[in-house]
Amino acid sequence: MISLAPLAAAHLPAIESLLDDRFGPARHKRTAYRLRDGASPLADYSFVATDGDQIVGSVQCWPIALKPLHGARLPLVLLGPVVVAAAREGEGIGSALVRAALAAIDAAGAPPVLLIGDAPFYGRFGFSAAATRLWTLPGPVDHDRLLLRGPSTGLPRLGALEPAQLVAGRAAKVA
Ligand SMILES: CC(C)(COP(=O)(O)OP(=O)(O)OC[C@H]1O[C@@H](n2cnc3c(N)ncnc32)[C@H](O)[C@@H]1OP(=O)(O)O)[C@@H](O)C(=O)NCCC(=O)NCCS
Repeated sequence: MISLAPLAAAHLPAIESLLDDRFGPARHKRTAYRLRDGASPLADYSFVATDGDQIVGSVQCWPIALKPLHGARLPLVLLGPVVVAAAREGEGIGSALVRAALAAIDAAGAPPVLLIGDAPFYGRFGFSAAATRLWTLPGPVDHDRLLLRGPSTGLPRLGALEPAQLVAGRAAKVA
């Protein structure tokens, strides 16, 4: 039976191994990793899925910011990676992990959520590329995969996405 639990530091080695399996060791070169530089996952919004004592999936969330051309930096939450063990795909684990993270973020009244991923999967959770077309990142990105969830009004059309150490005062780091 699958259970979801908050991510803890003790889970990280097993999750790293799962990420290597699913994304390959070159994953560290991805632009999403540049956005997480120097940050720890946000414990309040990051979860593991377990079956007995086995970790079968996880979602991690990170603090990032959007720096507009003018004005103050806007805090955002970066969601991902979402990963599920290959043998357990299609059981609803990935969706349950995304829903748990989004529910925790919504309950905390936290900032809009950004991710780099497949729109056909993440569209069902309210993510869209509409607001992010002119945002830049610290590396290459396919803008069809730069997806945002949250209020799109009041967001800058132009801006640079950057790592950030603190998004929400209530969001603790994984311990
Ligand atoms: C993507 C991933 C997290 C989905 O997890 P999962 O537990 O298999 O997903 P669920 O069982 O909750 O949902 C399955 C549904 O999502 C769809 N789906 C899964 N991956 C998809 C993708 N990349 N694009 C579009 N749809 C996708 C399935 O077709 C299925 O659709 P249905 O409900 O209409 O039948 C998992 O396949 C995985 O870990 N993949 C490798 C890593 C990865 O690509 N992570 C996402 C990018 S951060």
